[in-house]
Amino acid sequence: MRIGLVGPGKVGKGLADRWVKRGHEILFSFSRSEEKLRGYAAEYGELGHWGTPRDAVEFGEATVLCCKWEQTQEAVDAMGDLAGKTLIETVNTFQDDGTIAIGHSTSVAEEISHMAEGALVVPAFNSIPATLLAQPEDVFGETKAAVFYCGDDPGAKATARQLIQDAGFEPVDVGALKSARLIEPFAMLTVQAAINQKIRNIGFSMLRPRDSAS
Ligand SMILES: NC(=O)c1ccc[n+]([C@@H]2O[C@H](COP(=O)([O-])OP(=O)(O)OC[C@H]3O[C@@H](n4cnc5c(N)ncnc54)[C@H](OP(=O)(O)O)[C@@H]3O)[C@@H](O)[C@H]2O)c1
Repeated sequence: MRIGLVGPGKVGKGLADRWVKRGHEILFSFSRSEEKLRGYAAEYGELGHWGTPRDAVEFGEATVLCCKWEQTQEAVDAMGDLAGKTLIETVNTFQDDGTIAIGHSTSVAEEISHMAEGALVVPAFNSIPATLLAQPEDVFGETKAAVFYCGDDPGAKATARQLIQDAGFEPVDVGALKSARLIEPFAMLTVQAAINQKIRNIGFSMLRPRDSAS
């Protein structure tokens, strides 16, 4: 799959490193350093590209937005028209006091869908520590950490599901876009759990009865 990446930071590069191992093609964009974009693209040989956020949207079957909330409006503006485009986003609004700046009665995902009219927004990877992406995929043995995702467009969700699997995680569909109001606080909970258990690379998994119909 061709993936346009907007924000090649700890999360963005970590995801790209996993996806490229599955043969996905990546276009890196939205850095203050053009040299960094060029270097990251070169690492992947024929599978690596770089350009502007608009190039990322035009290149990708999916665009993945991995910047800080503070740069999100700027990134969305730079992506241009996103109508009908799959936009997977990882953005959290963690604050130093252990709370989130946006949430409960709205979510980052919904705010992005207002900023980017017509975009098919799917939040995902919010609760995956970036450092976990650099670990071996079998760091939890046979169990894969769950990645909760949601959205209002079935096609965009199917794309997200595939990319979650290809990054080495278990996709867990939690419904419509407004469920992002629950995913984003859960991501903060993950951080608090990691801090208080003193384990950096944690993940959560969904348990199912052996007979999963029950
Ligand atoms: N870190 C985690 O464990 C984690 C886990 C899940 C979700 N998240 C969320 O995912 C998003 C990305 O997190 P991250 O840890 O990957 O952040 P990060 O390392 O700081 O990456 C931010 C990206 O935005 C780019 N950027 C472009 N213009 C910028 C500007 N003016 N100022 C700052 N950065 C600019 C940065 O590029 P340059 O630095 O090259 O300019 C970088 O690629 C955040 O919303 C975060 O809340 C983080």
